[in-house]
Amino acid sequence: MLTKKVEKALNKQIEIEANASQFYLSMASWAETKGFEGVASFFYRHSDEEREHMLKLIKYINERGGHAIVPPLEKPPKIFECLSHVFKDLLNHEIMVTKEINKVVDICLKDKDYTTHNFMQWYVAEQIEEEALARHILDKLKLIADDKGGLYLFDRDIVNMNPTKN
Ligand code: FEO
Repeated sequence: MLTKKVEKALNKQIEIEANASQFYLSMASWAETKGFEGVASFFYRHSDEEREHMLKLIKYINERGGHAIVPPLEKPPKIFECLSHVFKDLLNHEIMVTKEINKVVDICLKDKDYTTHNFMQWYVAEQIEEEALARHILDKLKLIADDKGGLYLFDRDIVNMNPTKN
């Protein structure tokens, strides 16, 4: 059984993952309207991944005798200034998600819930990858700056930067 505190923390994490999915979906849509097909496909996939992170939590809570709550979603921004801003937003968002995951891990330890602590290690590892990827992409964008040809190639190549591509 989950303690009330752990259940509450996991339910909050469901909300965070759901909102990340929504946020990245909005980025995908914006990129698509700007002609950045590669970036759009990157964010569509990223949005799907966040939904999977959310589903994993829902199933875990229910399997452990808790009740996973499907949360309302925040309205994401629909306009973004430029590609660099989009990826800065991505990195900042992932840094926030990492902090929240660390809070859940901390609550698990305080409540001596080692099973959930173990379950959360998957998220801890995932966050290292996601933050590193966002930083890597931002470094590339810094190099490209306003070079249109560079942006064209970036948009083409970003599909290969997705860690979950098959
Ligand atoms: Fe599920 Fe990008 O954190």
